[in-house]
Amino acid sequence: MTADYSEIYGRSINQPNEFWGEVAEAVQWEKKWDTVLDDTNKPFYRWFVGGMLNTCYNAVDYHVQNGRGNQTAIIYDSPVTDTVRKITYGELLEKVSKFAGALRDLGVSKGDTVIIYMPMIPEAPVAMLACARIGAVHSVVFGGFAPNELAIRIDDAKPKVIVSASCGVEGKKVIPYKPLLDEAIRIAGHKPEKCVIFQRSQVEAHLIPGRDFDGETLMSKAKSAGCVAVAATDPLYILYTSGTTGKPKGVMRDNGGHAVALKWSMKYLYGAQPGEVFWAASDVGWVVGHSYIVYAPLLAGCTTIVYEGKPVGTPDPGAFWRVISQHGVSILFTAPTAFRAIKKEDPNAEYLKKYDIGSLRYLFLAGERLDPDTYHWASGMLKIPVIDHWWQTETGWGIAANCMGIEPFPVKAGSPTKAVPGYNVQVVDPEGNALPAGVDGTIAIKLPLPPGCLPTLWKDDKRFLEYVTEIPGFYVTGDGGYIDEDGYLFIMGRIDDVINVAGHRLSTGAMEEVVAKHKAVAECAVLGANEQLKGQVPAGFAVLKAGIDTDPDEIVKELIQMVRADIGAVACFKQCAIVSALPKTRSGKILRSTMRKIANGEEYTIPSTIEDPSVLVGIKEAVAKLGLGLGK
Ligand code: COA
Ligand code: AMP
Repeated sequence: MTADYSEIYGRSINQPNEFWGEVAEAVQWEKKWDTVLDDTNKPFYRWFVGGMLNTCYNAVDYHVQNGRGNQTAIIYDSPVTDTVRKITYGELLEKVSKFAGALRDLGVSKGDTVIIYMPMIPEAPVAMLACARIGAVHSVVFGGFAPNELAIRIDDAKPKVIVSASCGVEGKKVIPYKPLLDEAIRIAGHKPEKCVIFQRSQVEAHLIPGRDFDGETLMSKAKSAGCVAVAATDPLYILYTSGTTGKPKGVMRDNGGHAVALKWSMKYLYGAQPGEVFWAASDVGWVVGHSYIVYAPLLAGCTTIVYEGKPVGTPDPGAFWRVISQHGVSILFTAPTAFRAIKKEDPNAEYLKKYDIGSLRYLFLAGERLDPDTYHWASGMLKIPVIDHWWQTETGWGIAANCMGIEPFPVKAGSPTKAVPGYNVQVVDPEGNALPAGVDGTIAIKLPLPPGCLPTLWKDDKRFLEYVTEIPGFYVTGDGGYIDEDGYLFIMGRIDDVINVAGHRLSTGAMEEVVAKHKAVAECAVLGANEQLKGQVPAGFAVLKAGIDTDPDEIVKELIQMVRADIGAVACFKQCAIVSALPKTRSGKILRSTMRKIANGEEYTIPSTIEDPSVLVGIKEAVAKLGLGLGK
């Protein structure tokens, strides 16, 4: 492709109304918009105001009506259950319409919320699309979260119905979901009226009469439901993501801007053509799963893969190559951690020799920083473009990327290249002044954000304002970094208390809240320490109350178990030390950034504000005992 980046980018920023108005023509509208960008209520911006559409119609019905009925829409590939199943667009329409009918029979209608707590089985995207079909708002909760986290989301989203399955299969482990769901509902203040459970052969869930319904039975009895037109600005989904406190943020996505941006991104960012197989090896519980397992590939008429497996161990480090060759994958999207896991087990890529992966054109990586080593290993081995791209749950699609459907730039390892059209990305100081090339600062996006990004947080405009008022006129991303003299963006990491563990976004603040609940703990700090495979892992430092004589090793075990029980195994909270004190400023603020540097073996200067520098000795000893101090 030869589309000119400067021209497209310039138009997207300088004439957003014209640019996005043209892009939006690719989507099917029940009624066209009155205004492309409504900026009458800054800093709240809305896209395609007055427009009416249905996202499910665009993702499913439209393709069936336009000759793709027999094309595979979803390939369910599950090495953990030894299953491969294909669902055509025609069959998907049938399933989604039936499930939409079943939801309607349970009393769900436009504007109601539905929580989906599911493993990676096709019923998860079917449930999401069924909600979209009837104008209900879904909120998918990642299966690796513990009941307490699910309960927090139930209380915030207040679902009428929860859709779940009897179990998940995680590598060799079978995890019964129903007891987790029952426990979450028990803890939650809000009680959903009904639950729909898909029974899997590995575990049969006990259904509570009157509240729980078998998914298959409901679908077999239901009458198909048609698409309900919704406003472009109506919510399509809520996706909770980690903030800096224990209360997750309910990122809200609208219908119109989302469909427009995602469809555009498939062609211009990913260089994907309709009919191709696009595989995002992630989970529907994360934003990558929402956007690039479910909505974008289907909006673009591609075939998507629901993969219930891991990059390694299911059964070996050739798992990804097997899927690519078996299904003719053109574009793979995953997190760098997946490639680090493959590299660790198969450094010379011997397993790759067993498969023909000639169909693969591009590898896209996101979710965490793509370290140059992993970039060089992947591109040397695959000999195709390896594209680092940067985005967040909040934006829903790529902020910076080497767009394969526009003129590609030469790669600089460690950089996701340049801003994607629509995003006016700048590196600024705390007052919002642009910093010179090469100088580290806050990465911010000048408002308005393009279509597809969060218009607000679910029922929490006040908290949304924190993103857009800290530096007036900008959305503050929470990431820090710099732009070099060639205009390439370098994302160096979060500047808040959010960490990235194996591409999973987690809050150290939430973990601190759990650790602090232990009766022997006086105070604590949890921070992200660099780790070779997962990028970062949480490391906890706890100070005990005076007079506690319990064995500190026992307390550490209990703290680890508490975080696992409260947040989930996915938190990977396995490193914790008891220390005699935490380093603090004279005004009592914990010096987390100094601790983080020590934990990562980086150089640090003792802050002039420190109350007692000798405390740092204890932290260094704890870091050594935990085996941290790896450096970047
Ligand atoms: N349901 C229940 N438990 C889950 C789960 C789920 N959906 N997903 C993960 N877990 C559990 C794991 O079983 C593990 O439990 P354990 O402590 O008992 O072993 C724990 O949560 C941590 O999971 P994870 O961080 O995924 O570690 P892992 O060792 O199982 O796998 C990788 C490591 C690198 C193979 C894996 O993280 C991976 O494939 N990452 C790719 C990145 C990715 O998909 N990112 C998503 C955003 S793009
Ligand atoms: P999430 O909301 O889970 O997608 O996590 C978003 C965060 O992941 C970002 O704010 C970054 O800190 C990090 N991230 C995502 N992609 C990249 C990337 N390509 N390079 C560096 N960091 C990234």
